[in-house]
Amino acid sequence: MKGREWYQADDVAAEYEEKRFSRGGRLIDRREKQAVLDALAPVEGKDVLEIACGTGRFTVALAERKANVVGLDISAEMLAQGREKAQRTGRSVDFLRGDAGRLPFPDDSFDAVFAMRFFHLADTPTAYLSEMARVARKQVFFDTFNAGSVRLLYNWALPMGSRLYDREEVTDLFAEVELRRTNENHDFVLPFGFYRKIPNRVADEFREVDMAVGKTSVGDRLASVSYWDARVADSERA
Ligand SMILES: C[S@@+](CC[C@H](N)C(=O)[O-])C[C@H]1O[C@@H](n2cnc3c(N)ncnc32)[C@H](O)[C@@H]1O
Repeated sequence: MKGREWYQADDVAAEYEEKRFSRGGRLIDRREKQAVLDALAPVEGKDVLEIACGTGRFTVALAERKANVVGLDISAEMLAQGREKAQRTGRSVDFLRGDAGRLPFPDDSFDAVFAMRFFHLADTPTAYLSEMARVARKQVFFDTFNAGSVRLLYNWALPMGSRLYDREEVTDLFAEVELRRTNENHDFVLPFGFYRKIPNRVADEFREVDMAVGKTSVGDRLASVSYWDARVADSERA
């Protein structure tokens, strides 16, 4: 698993959000939160587990909307950031240190289980997805970075590189863990790294062009990120 040690450093955890979600990166944070909230809606009263929750961007947003949410991450330093955030906003969130490969919960513990920006770090994605499916009663949601996108051009230069997926690989993953894909969304023809480098005031203009290209016939294939929504097979028989 890439990033296991990387995210345990104090300074990496402290700078995590500032590096990724300031400047033009703010719109990425908004888009990702929307993807999670749309997929999990309605969230009020729902039992939700977030895998690799990091600094709690989504965990706290879900708690604000009255979900019963648990955030799990392997890094105590990232979790400390999340706990501070929850305290600042007066939300009650259960943050737990643990390994996504061995979830400390019985089968069918949560209505929904999700992970954002995690699968690009996974060298054995089936094992992780299978754990998510095991503890989910109904829904599993996650994102991937895509092989057919511009990301391919700079992926090698990133500190730990990312595992990039194509649609067939995700389809196979779902089949292996017996999840049924119910929805998929593909976005960001312009990659995250580009938005992070430009000022927030011009990011919206580029985003409009990005979304316009995304709507063309080649948009889905060029998108750098995909959001995948699935149902646990058993939940549909109940
Ligand atoms: C790129 S960050 C994403 C954090 C958060 N999901 C977000 O989108 O802001 C990846 C996270 O995965 C966590 N992680 C890496 N390996 C893990 C594992 N085996 N089990 C649980 N968390 C893990 C890291 O500690 C880090 O917080």
